[in-house]
Amino acid sequence: MYSEKVMDHFENPRNVGKLENANAIGEVGNATCGDIMKIYMRIENGIIEDVSFKTFGCGAAIATSSMATELVKGKSVEEAVKLTNKAVMEALDGLPPAKVHCSVLAEQAIHAALQDYQKKTGIDLGLSELEHEFDCASFHADMHKENN
Ligand code: FES
Repeated sequence: MYSEKVMDHFENPRNVGKLENANAIGEVGNATCGDIMKIYMRIENGIIEDVSFKTFGCGAAIATSSMATELVKGKSVEEAVKLTNKAVMEALDGLPPAKVHCSVLAEQAIHAALQDYQKKTGIDLGLSELEHEFDCASFHADMHKENN
């Protein structure tokens, strides 16, 4: 059902945990399945020097978070903003149809962190506020409880 790459990123996820010196953080959730992703980035001079994630969710959510962080690490914010769920899926050699939304969540989580950067720096990356707020609002309370 899952590709070897998905299993690898699920069993050995890259870039896991809270990034202590993060200067951009994004958090999204899917109201249907209840999964939550939080992305931490340290961005210096427009380059994502470091990135990590914390995901409360299914195996595919872990694998897509892991791959998404790998795909944006070392990239410029302008390149990272172009990350799509399709690119994440391709890098993982595909996902079953029922798990495509997990890759969408990973794309949204990366965008949410970049949106935070956009808000803090005033650098316009063309990201709108609406993209993730709709889905994650109800999960904020739980996530904050866990992190604080
Ligand atoms: Fe919803 Fe995986 S089942 S993110």
